Amino acid sequence: MVEDARVSVRRVLFVCLGNICRSPLAEAVARKRLAEAGLDVAVASCGTGGWHAGEGADPRMVAAARAAGHDLSKHRARQLRARDFADHDLLLAMDRDNLRGLRKFAATPGQAEQAALFLKWTGAAPPLEFPDPWYGDAAGFAASVELAERGVAGLIERLRVAHR
Ligand code: 4NP
Repeated sequence: MVEDARVSVRRVLFVCLGNICRSPLAEAVARKRLAEAGLDVAVASCGTGGWHAGEGADPRMVAAARAAGHDLSKHRARQLRARDFADHDLLLAMDRDNLRGLRKFAATPGQAEQAALFLKWTGAAPPLEFPDPWYGDAAGFAASVELAERGVAGLIERLRVAHR
């Protein structure tokens, strides 16, 4: 796992399954909060699966994010690619399935160690997995926004200490 955020974390990739709900949300929340915190960290997102590649974010996720001040309207889904390990320092998976998918894609043990569980790496209180809101209702999408904010707050805390 990436432990020394000080030297290594300048580019973060958020990873879920479809790249239409959780990881685009985490990306948007992180982009906004990192800028507010004055931290120069680039963020992006992708999915381990490619079924939704090229599509926008799920309209239910777009609406819940918008209600909280986050803009997902320009998001386009894409699938994880081999060079994502070279292009990013830290790859944060939303759940353990995503983490397994990510690590399967890694070409070397070092690359596999660039991948971590989002809510675990950021030191958030449990749950450590980010539930998939896809099958749920509007409340689940609103809860996703809260969870993304919590995880990103933890991420910023960790990076702030590291970048000091
Ligand atoms: P995400 O949610 O991984 O948070 O983007 C999902 C989106 C689509 C599907 C599953 C999860 N799907 O099965 O199509």
